[in-house]
Amino acid sequence: MFNKKSTAEEVTGELDLSELNILITGVNSGLGYETMRVLAERGAHVIGAARTIEKARDACRSVQGKTTPVACELSDLDSVASCAETVTGLDLPIDRIICNAGIMALPELQVKDGLELQFLTNHMGHFLLLFLLQEAVKRSDDARIVVLSSAAHQLTVKGGINFSNLDGEQGYSPWQFYGQSKLANLLTARTLNDRLSEYGVCVNAVHPGVIRTNLGRDLKGLAGLLMSQPFFGKLLEWTGGKSVAQGAATQCFVATHNSVRSVGGRYFSDCQEARPSWHGRNDALAERLWQYSVDYLSNYIDPQSMTSKHVLTDLTEA
Ligand SMILES: NC(=O)c1ccc[n+]([C@@H]2O[C@H](COP(=O)([O-])OP(=O)(O)OC[C@H]3O[C@@H](n4cnc5c(N)ncnc54)[C@H](OP(=O)(O)O)[C@@H]3O)[C@@H](O)[C@H]2O)c1
Repeated sequence: MFNKKSTAEEVTGELDLSELNILITGVNSGLGYETMRVLAERGAHVIGAARTIEKARDACRSVQGKTTPVACELSDLDSVASCAETVTGLDLPIDRIICNAGIMALPELQVKDGLELQFLTNHMGHFLLLFLLQEAVKRSDDARIVVLSSAAHQLTVKGGINFSNLDGEQGYSPWQFYGQSKLANLLTARTLNDRLSEYGVCVNAVHPGVIRTNLGRDLKGLAGLLMSQPFFGKLLEWTGGKSVAQGAATQCFVATHNSVRSVGGRYFSDCQEARPSWHGRNDALAERLWQYSVDYLSNYIDPQSMTSKHVLTDLTEA
């Protein structure tokens, strides 16, 4: 019914979202901002997260509808834990979480807390946020989580995720490490869906398309031009890219459309189900990532509070 040209306004056109509380990360820019704008316009209460409370407040103030700003710096796990506490403190069922914030293709290796920064920000920060908000999500009658992945999940390192080089010290490539973090987003959607589906929570991953946003701020050469210059941005749209309004459509569709109710563990692109890469379908790799992430976050979470129904015999195959 909808396709790559559909906009966020079109895919939500018929919907009254006034019963929903929706947490979105990265609301001050690009797809996150458009997603907040449209979902708030349809009546949802949007809890808008940005790196700082000032950025979140400014973004929330500039849209119509009910919004609550919260601070969430995803590369700072204390900030993520504090965001989860603030959201839990609202004492509301959290009906949707859209893990939208992200960074892409950092030209130089950046390491924080022992992890390469894209993996820490795009994957680990969101993983912690989702883990800590599981009880708030389970309070909803129809909860959905949407995790922004990317077609770039295919451009990854050998083996999909290189667990022995997550700090990049043995070699770093901007795009492969972006791809690795986006593969981690996709795999997390699968494993989280497996763990939460018995509570009626559906988790899916999406590729939004190729859209000129601030995401390309670090890109060099032609790719940098395409992402930063308005004219080249138009060229990008004419040659298969999308506008921001179209780019926000798939996450809005998966988060709200009735046809996606009760659908979980899938990957969507252009408002349709799509096939992830081989690594993106590898349950053993997904489970290994889960174990790695809960171990890494042991200061923040109790791994026993979310267990898998999925029985995997040999995690070393990944
Ligand atoms: N645009 C595309 O072509 C494309 C393609 C595939 C996938 N995606 C995915 O779509 C998502 C949205 O990207 P976009 O295109 O809308 O890019 P964007 O305009 O750059 O927005 C990214 C958002 O993430 C926030 N963010 C970055 N680092 C953060 C951190 N450490 N903690 C908290 N928030 C942080 C940014 O905040 P600041 O403004 O404060 O930095 C901004 O609000 C990303 O996950 C991206 O990987 C985009």
